[in-house]
Amino acid sequence: MGKLKIVVTGGAGYIGSHVVKLIGENLKDKAEIVVIDNLSTGHREAVLYGSLVEGDIRDRDLLRKVFSDFDPDVIMHFSALLVVPESVEKPVEYWDNNVGGMIALLSETLPIIKRKKVSFIFSSTAAVYGNPEKLPISEDHPKRPENPYGDTKLACEKLLSSLSYAEKNFNFVSLRYFNAAGADPDGLLGQSTPNPTHLILRAVKVAKGEIPFLEIYGTDYPTPDGTCIRDYIHVQDLAWAHILALQYLLDGGESDFFNVGYGKGYSVLEVLKVVDEVVGFEIPKKKANRRPGDPSALVADPTKIKTKLGFSPKYDDLYFIVKTAWNWELNKRY
Ligand code: UFG
Repeated sequence: MGKLKIVVTGGAGYIGSHVVKLIGENLKDKAEIVVIDNLSTGHREAVLYGSLVEGDIRDRDLLRKVFSDFDPDVIMHFSALLVVPESVEKPVEYWDNNVGGMIALLSETLPIIKRKKVSFIFSSTAAVYGNPEKLPISEDHPKRPENPYGDTKLACEKLLSSLSYAEKNFNFVSLRYFNAAGADPDGLLGQSTPNPTHLILRAVKVAKGEIPFLEIYGTDYPTPDGTCIRDYIHVQDLAWAHILALQYLLDGGESDFFNVGYGKGYSVLEVLKVVDEVVGFEIPKKKANRRPGDPSALVADPTKIKTKLGFSPKYDDLYFIVKTAWNWELNKRY
């Protein structure tokens, strides 16, 4: 059998690049990778395996060309805009990029699935659930996104469901990420985003002196210490979930949705305590107003991915997550 051909959209971005590295390291002789990335937030240097096609997935001519040259068996779709407050300000841009991009991608996939099977892995988010009615959140929790970002991801999931129903040659896994954080334990990859909004990345940037102080958005939430609780997952474990999803689909698994988190919640103050420990001093912080749209607590129920995909995390350790993020911040390669 020839090599498995995998297209990775957004493979130069934070999570996509970690997945490309894992595929390169673990399936090197079995798989071939083409990354498509417009480099709007991604980095050429982050693509450690395969080849990079620079371009936007909404460019149907480009997609058609790549697909006819490469004829993929697998599509891993990471490229999307993902900043919640920005999505509130620029809803059209978010729908265009995330849903428009998905429509373009699937439209150009259609001719392939008329001939052969295509497996699709989608980067979804806990934001599809909206404000949780109960914790931890399992996959059958009601889906009521609270912002355009979550709306676009839910719309993409619905489109995937409809397509897998219509086409027997198409199956997918949608992975609903909780809070991805940390960096490649080998130090080759990490998150290098201009104006980052994520807590751990901002905190290590404060420690490095790039940001003057860390603002704690809200201290009056109905949680034990008044700050928001999230389920932080190391990016390498999150990346590994994609390898498991791929195996599952190749083995003939039915289309499905999985939470990817550890099932453990930490408050903002708990995270910042670990940051202080890792960097060896107390980073400057200030109490600030709540950030609009932040649910007080988001914690995954990871039972389904553990039982159905055999997910067994290796880096379920907040100290290690922060340590790798700090290490990347000090020794960035891009
Ligand atoms: N926070 C601060 N100060 C900061 C940054 C964040 O207090 O400088 C707080 C936020 O208010 C929130 C928590 O830290 O309570 C985590 O915030 P992040 O911005 O790191 O992450 P979010 O939980 O807001 O968002 C993440 C992903 C989204 C996804 C969402 C799912 O980034 O893409 O989880 O709930 F939609």
